[in-house]
Amino acid sequence: MTAIDRLFTALSLGGMTVRNRIAMAPMTREFAPGGVPGDDVVEYYRRRAAGGCGLIITEGMAVNAAGAHDGPIPLLWQSEAQAALGRIASAVKAQGSCIVAQLWHVGMQDSPTTVNPGTVKQRPPRVGPSGLYGNGEPGGEVMSEDDIANTIADFARAAAAAESAGCDGIEIHGAHGYLADQFMWDRTNRRADTWGGETAQRSRFLAEIIRACRAATSPGFAVIARISQWKSVDYTARLAETKGEWAAMLEPLCAAGLDALHVSTRRFWEPGFADGDRSLAGVTRDITGLPVIAVGSVTLERDFKEGTSEAGGGITESAARSAHVEQVAEAIEAEEFDMIAVGRAMIANPDWADLVRGGRADELRPFTRDLLAKLD
Ligand SMILES: Cc1cc2nc3c(=O)[nH]c(=O)nc-3n(C[C@H](O)[C@H](O)[C@H](O)COP(=O)(O)O)c2cc1C
Repeated sequence: MTAIDRLFTALSLGGMTVRNRIAMAPMTREFAPGGVPGDDVVEYYRRRAAGGCGLIITEGMAVNAAGAHDGPIPLLWQSEAQAALGRIASAVKAQGSCIVAQLWHVGMQDSPTTVNPGTVKQRPPRVGPSGLYGNGEPGGEVMSEDDIANTIADFARAAAAAESAGCDGIEIHGAHGYLADQFMWDRTNRRADTWGGETAQRSRFLAEIIRACRAATSPGFAVIARISQWKSVDYTARLAETKGEWAAMLEPLCAAGLDALHVSTRRFWEPGFADGDRSLAGVTRDITGLPVIAVGSVTLERDFKEGTSEAGGGITESAARSAHVEQVAEAIEAEEFDMIAVGRAMIANPDWADLVRGGRADELRPFTRDLLAKLD
């Protein structure tokens, strides 16, 4: 078996059997007027499943009004959005792919002044663990015990809705500086109660969401959490400086009944910590023993591997893409991670998986920002 063949072996994840190791990364597209994805969105996901992607992770879907990003994103607490998710799930599954819905609460991430046009007319104020934005400035409301309990219940209701819609699981967005990550980050969590404090205490909020989602859904329904060191407001931010701190943060999440972790990094090949070569995904897999999804710039960058883009090396972009695919496949073979999520490159290439399987990675179309303006 070649390394590339390894990319096309099945993976058990919770109760799912995913046909290969390729996931579509969750990507907000803002094509859900009134909070409801239409037929164009159904078709967009169906094309990626038809193109061979094993696991579709949907764009972030808001679990309640306070947590909704300002823009036409799916508002999953509403029945119309749940019905639309049902149409997406059936279209994807008819192509032989699995699907998990990403559950999202932005917390204090966004500007306090904007509203979600046409969806949440009078949006509730932004809330967070300590009412602080990612830059450390105050501006929102500090979540009370009731707010916390209600938000956890909203995640659980959204998980149950995703199961009723026919999804195989959910991914809780605990990354990039959104609400669950705001609890985990010491810059935005200054609480002195049991929701704040040391690293393990700060991951309690995400752990309780995991526990509640698990309880609200059937055995075998996959519960995945996405986590990251980096934040959209600060690419250099870190939740943990050492593997020991990272392990302390992960422990409550695993104990709550997770099936897999999706470790979000900006470049999948970079070492996670100063003391070792293992990526953050690899370190996470070593610590937890759980299946891990890696992500970050797959088939996007030219200088991905030391030496390949040296002056005079003459490597073409298309050859670089092929070499990148090899690198991913080798990492899976070496048990660095179990699955790779592909984001922007899958916007540019709905058939990313089929092209790679056919040994045609050098034909992958480059991603350009203008592709975000439409839903191809
Ligand atoms: C347009 C766009 C929207 C995104 N929306 C989300 C999102 O809703 N949830 C999430 O967890 N990550 C989101 N991301 C991050 C991607 O899931 C992914 O981690 C990132 O694009 C890096 O992967 P890539 O280099 O393969 O694109 C988004 C990225 C892009 C480009």
